[in-house]
Amino acid sequence: MEKFDVIIIGSGPGGYVAAIRSAQLGLKTAIIEKDPELGGTCLNIGCIPSKALLASSDHYVFAKKGAAQHGIQIADVTLDLPTMLARKDKVVKTLTGGVRALMKGNKISTFSGLGTITEPSKVRVQPDGGEATEVAADHIVIATGSVPINLPSMPFDGETVVSSTEALCFAKPPQKLLVIGAGAIGLELGSVWSRLGSEVTVLEFLPRIAVGFDLEMANLLQRALTAQGMKFHLETKVSSVKVKDGRAIATATKGGEEMTFDADKVLVAVGRRAFAEGVGAHQVGVALDERGRIKVDEMFRTNVEGIYAIGDVIAGPMLAHKAEEEGIACVELIAGKAGHVNYEVIPGIIYTNPELAGVGITEDFAKEKGMKVRVGKFPFRANGRALANADAEGWVKFIADAETDRILGASVLNHAASELIAEIVAVMEFGGSSEDLGRTVHAHPTLSEAVKEAALAVEKHAIHIGNR
Ligand code: NAI
Repeated sequence: MEKFDVIIIGSGPGGYVAAIRSAQLGLKTAIIEKDPELGGTCLNIGCIPSKALLASSDHYVFAKKGAAQHGIQIADVTLDLPTMLARKDKVVKTLTGGVRALMKGNKISTFSGLGTITEPSKVRVQPDGGEATEVAADHIVIATGSVPINLPSMPFDGETVVSSTEALCFAKPPQKLLVIGAGAIGLELGSVWSRLGSEVTVLEFLPRIAVGFDLEMANLLQRALTAQGMKFHLETKVSSVKVKDGRAIATATKGGEEMTFDADKVLVAVGRRAFAEGVGAHQVGVALDERGRIKVDEMFRTNVEGIYAIGDVIAGPMLAHKAEEEGIACVELIAGKAGHVNYEVIPGIIYTNPELAGVGITEDFAKEKGMKVRVGKFPFRANGRALANADAEGWVKFIADAETDRILGASVLNHAASELIAEIVAVMEFGGSSEDLGRTVHAHPTLSEAVKEAALAVEKHAIHIGNR
């Protein structure tokens, strides 16, 4: 039986990044993946293919509606969905192939098959229809991720009632698409199909969309998406979805009243749950929490010596970048180094147009907790580059400690929010203040000047807008 220092089960961003860092630290490393391709949900059926479709559908809308205001007339814009989907698949293939090359380049042994921990230091690898092999290691890292929540009252059938996986490859835009859940998945994939011509209605149980993000910004995002043609029913709890003659009927309650919605397809995006099935964690005594997530301490150790867990399968936001940082920290700790993840400063992004990005606390959270904070805001309509780009929707907003001025949180609503938030994340990582950021030179003309101006607005010093 081949013995390794570290075996990683699962090759998503958490697992494969952990494997690379482990190999860099001189540890003999193996990675086990049950699916045919490496890269996990993010690369194969999550972040990457959805961003490919978001980019393509954004270009389609630009060609149809946006180009004309730049003086570019494009006649007869038509949708070639097979090419759009094929491009998405090609992007995925390039990246999953890249991960395989990275494994090889770092001399990481890759095993294909279901990895099951049989004893605290042993893993059986069962390939689909093949013969099982056993491998051993002093340290085993579980990075098995998450799967969409499949509710018994609205079960996925893969055809009419679907998860995000199938919503990445509809053969044609559904005439009517019902989206259940106004989280990242519902809003992103709802946007894609709305842009490609579907009539999209989003049903959300809460009185707001994009829970976890700044409420004011989320409301502005809802307004923008509504203007683009998406319909929203908030405070609407879907109790069941039934399929009859290939059409879906959702039953929901809103304000005590029962409502029904019919659609060609229903995307159920009501959250994801930790996936630890088949990995043998429970059988070897690894403790799970009440939501089926693997319990770990601050060093990612489970209650069983030599077994660790990272990413979506443990508590915390289900985000690829959180999983990556945990993977790195976990193997650094295994190697006796000081691994650490700063959970206070993890950005979250919804990649709609405009994109909504947030980091740290929100204004509503500060109010709820009675925290003494100051807020600075700046609109992109007062930013030269945004106007030049014809992309002046949205705001930047800072929440700073009222006494120390330390930045506690920020939100950006803009076409480029996912990139703009990175600067704020970096300043927050260094414990910076709004003044630090506001006094930093930003190139002109750039969208990032709106970030600087919002930071200045905390002290009511913004230059290109009245400070009230
Ligand atoms: P989510 O948990 O973010 O949102 C689900 C929404 O569904 C909630 O607002 C909830 O109130 C609503 N809901 C639940 N049951 C309902 C019902 N019966 N009727 C009406 N509404 C109902 O879940 P989502 O969007 O599926 O995402 C899953 C995970 O994946 C999240 O942790 C998310 O952060 C992550 N993710 C992140 C992305 C990103 O960062 N861009 C992209 C995709 C997923």
